[in-house]
Amino acid sequence: MLLEGRVILVTGAAGALGSAICAAVRQHGGTPFRTDIAQGPDVDARHDVTSEAGWAGVCATIERRHGRLDGLVNNAGIIRVGSVEATALADFRLVMAVNVEGVFLGCKVAWPLLRESDGAAIVNVSSTAGLVGSADHAAYNASKGAVRLLSKSVALHGARLDPPIRCNSLHPSLMPGNMAETIVAGAEDPQAAIEAIVAARNPLRRLARTEEVAAAAVFLLSPMSSYMTGSELVCDGGATAL
Ligand SMILES: NC(=O)c1ccc[n+]([C@@H]2O[C@H](COP(=O)([O-])OP(=O)(O)OC[C@H]3O[C@@H](n4cnc5c(N)ncnc54)[C@H](O)[C@@H]3O)[C@@H](O)[C@H]2O)c1
Repeated sequence: MLLEGRVILVTGAAGALGSAICAAVRQHGGTPFRTDIAQGPDVDARHDVTSEAGWAGVCATIERRHGRLDGLVNNAGIIRVGSVEATALADFRLVMAVNVEGVFLGCKVAWPLLRESDGAAIVNVSSTAGLVGSADHAAYNASKGAVRLLSKSVALHGARLDPPIRCNSLHPSLMPGNMAETIVAGAEDPQAAIEAIVAARNPLRRLARTEEVAAAAVFLLSPMSSYMTGSELVCDGGATAL
């Protein structure tokens, strides 16, 4: 019960990792507030993370409904596959808007509410793509690298408070779901392409399970990680150790 009584805002909550994080928050006694640009039964509020007004509305709803906010998981994200040469400026801007501006706005707009908590934590979902490059992920690499450094700035600002607002970035490798499918969509045999990625780049010889990455997010949200801020938690089966 690492998150007993805690209210945690999770963006991209309808997706593969977002839904696993919400389930893990609940398992640990917390209450997730689930937002996504997509509507559905597992979403508390429809919310496009690129909209500042949308963030303000979500925070006002949380304050009205729960009276507190103890954690924020900036999880919503998109990918466009393409080298620097092949990526259209519009796609680059879209990826940066969702993956970077969305995280910036979340930290900024939720700040006053998080500040009232007795120990708030922000988890910004980056990727191994925020640590190492890939020829065909120009926009995604740029965005996830930005999330990594933005998180450090947020952490340093939060450290000036008493109690501090902690902020860490989380760096998963490939998980099953939409994003993995998008990455191999151009391959002749997508399943074989996934297997080739795992064989070439993953010492644990399998994809990450969403529950494993969600467990890392719960750890960063909880008092178990009270001395961690501005850090990068890598959850990648050893991929970036290669
Ligand atoms: N899947 C992977 O292999 C992988 C690996 C490393 C990091 N990540 C990161 O994990 C996070 C979650 O990815 P996922 O695998 O669950 O992907 P997913 O596609 O299953 O889920 C992403 C969710 O974000 C939502 N979303 C997209 N644009 C949005 C917007 N503008 N506003 C609000 N919500 C929006 C989608 O509707 C979707 O529900 C992302 O930040 C992604 O970059 C994923």
